[in-house]
Amino acid sequence: MSLLSVDELTVTFTGRGTRDVNAVSGVSFSVDEGQVVGLVGESGCGKSVTSLALMGLLPGRGVRVGGRALFRSKGADAEPVDLLSLGRSALRDLRGPQMAMIFQDPLSSLNPVVSIGVQVTEILTRHRGMRGKAARDEAAHLLERVGIPDPTRRLKEYPHQLSGGMRQRALIAMAVACAPRLLIADEPTTALDVTIQAQILELLKELVDDQGTALLMITHDLGVVAGLCDEVNVLYAGKVVEAAGRRPLFAAPAHPYAHGLLGSIPRLDAPRGEPLNPIRGSINDTIAWNDGCAFAPRCDFYTMECLQGPPDLAALPHGGDAHQVRCVNPVLNAVPDTQTEASA
Ligand SMILES: Nc1ncnc2c1ncn2[C@@H]1O[C@H](COP(=O)(O)OP(=O)(O)OP(=O)(O)O)[C@@H](O)[C@H]1O
Ligand SMILES: [Mg+2]
Repeated sequence: MSLLSVDELTVTFTGRGTRDVNAVSGVSFSVDEGQVVGLVGESGCGKSVTSLALMGLLPGRGVRVGGRALFRSKGADAEPVDLLSLGRSALRDLRGPQMAMIFQDPLSSLNPVVSIGVQVTEILTRHRGMRGKAARDEAAHLLERVGIPDPTRRLKEYPHQLSGGMRQRALIAMAVACAPRLLIADEPTTALDVTIQAQILELLKELVDDQGTALLMITHDLGVVAGLCDEVNVLYAGKVVEAAGRRPLFAAPAHPYAHGLLGSIPRLDAPRGEPLNPIRGSINDTIAWNDGCAFAPRCDFYTMECLQGPPDLAALPHGGDAHQVRCVNPVLNAVPDTQTEASA
């Protein structure tokens, strides 16, 4: 069984006097040891909320969480624990050595009144029992590993004295400090320039290859997915709409949304002057999943059948169980309705 298997995760924000927000509506996926699994989708589709739910970091009030997230913290033969129903102190013990997260927003994730050095050594002391000079040396080594120049000086500085990219790298150093079994990286390279980005992706790859770390990579960058992920889950409005290995997904995206995402990036082999094809509308143009496919209002392949309840995530006819799509009219055999109209 997988290191982490998430089964029908739902997260609903319930506010007094406001409408409930279904941020995540039944997301299932799994991550094996040494595997990189991507969660991909546009802003607001529920990527961060999914990862915060798994880490037990959602606010205590005003949130309803459902489903299961089984995590084998003690190895393959031990009973898994359900991260969604674990108590606070048990979760605190898991965070660090078993699972760690690189947060999307580095400034609000670091304590502004505590030096970087203290924040890094605190983890080494708590989880690796290191103290004094040994902890300081290891902290400097970790900063060096993520490409922060002059680490000894930087350890004495406070978060506001570091650039955005350096803060992000300091957070990455803290997340990898205990070589966790599961690392959740929420847009870890968005704030970084491309050379540092490549360096960080290389470091994450190294963790996966050398230490068998399982990596849940959250990103909207398909370049990062292409370079790193083994399996990819494409999220739309809180649901997985396509789940496949990286190769089949890139070769033949079947959900119109995934198809649109891949069609909207520039390709070097495209004929000169060919315009890019953006997906029309925005994530606000959705309908509730209960009424049909949430992507239908933006979809070029939409038919009346799309408005008859939520489609299931099902295996593609030719893809086997490994390539699943939540669509009644997947791109393989679909003809855009604009073409149907033209030929009619
Ligand atoms: N504390 C909250 N209260 C109410 N709604 C929330 C809260 N946090 C997130 N949401 C809503 O949940 C949905 C998913 O948000 P989430 O942060 O997971 O998006 P995301 O996929 O990480 O987007 P981005 O790529 O911009 O980081 C959004 O509609 C957001 O408005
Ligand atoms: Mg996010």
